[in-house]
Amino acid sequence: MEPYLETERLTLRLFTADDADLLIELDSDPAVMRYLTGGEPTAPETVREKQLPNILAGYAKWDGKLGLVAAFEKDGGAFIGWFILRPGPDGPLDEVELGYRLRQAAWGRGYATEGSRALLRKGFTELGVRLVWADTMFVNAGSRHVMEKLGMTHVDTYFPDLEPIEGSEHGEVRYELTVDQWVSSQPER
Ligand SMILES: CC(C)(COP(=O)(O)OP(=O)(O)OC[C@H]1O[C@@H](n2cnc3c(N)ncnc32)[C@H](O)[C@@H]1OP(=O)(O)O)[C@@H](O)C(=O)NCCC(=O)NCCS
Repeated sequence: MEPYLETERLTLRLFTADDADLLIELDSDPAVMRYLTGGEPTAPETVREKQLPNILAGYAKWDGKLGLVAAFEKDGGAFIGWFILRPGPDGPLDEVELGYRLRQAAWGRGYATEGSRALLRKGFTELGVRLVWADTMFVNAGSRHVMEKLGMTHVDTYFPDLEPIEGSEHGEVRYELTVDQWVSSQPER
């Protein structure tokens, strides 16, 4: 399969119907799920019956150009997690969400920043994206730090009506980056 994107250290490719075990293993780590569900793993049948079919349906809807993509280390081929570049359910195609969920073994090596930088470049230069947003819990300092390193701006703190988990009393934060901001942040060639 043609890669979706390559970076210096990572290959990103579309998920296939055979990839449920990768997603199940990723979501089985309470540390990975801490700021998503309070640490609760995703049930394997939810991955098989909902999450993976939704990912594949997204490729059909957006012609394989946008969606959730699997990331692998070039050196050795280990699955490190996923990235997302995807419009809202009914949103315009030029306003997309950026996100990432990486295996604990891959944390702290700059992978989230590296993969996201490449996705921003692809979105803004190839896919006609005008605005990228990213949401995370206020207390998810690592995730916020990635957004800040990407040059994104904190535009909102809000309190969704969700089942409370540790830290959710501080709310969720939204960061944004426009194509104009991104272009002016690129070094002159
Ligand atoms: C958040 C996550 C994607 C970060 O991935 P990563 O590859 O380790 O990120 P990077 O190495 O590119 O950058 C992380 C930065 O945050 C910093 N950081 C990490 N944890 C931190 C913390 N608790 N407090 C402050 N800074 C922190 C790192 O030092 C690094 O900054 P630096 O490069 O200036 O040193 C990863 O931990 C993850 O997948 N977590 C589980 C899922 C999740 O929470 N996803 C986001 C939900 S929206």
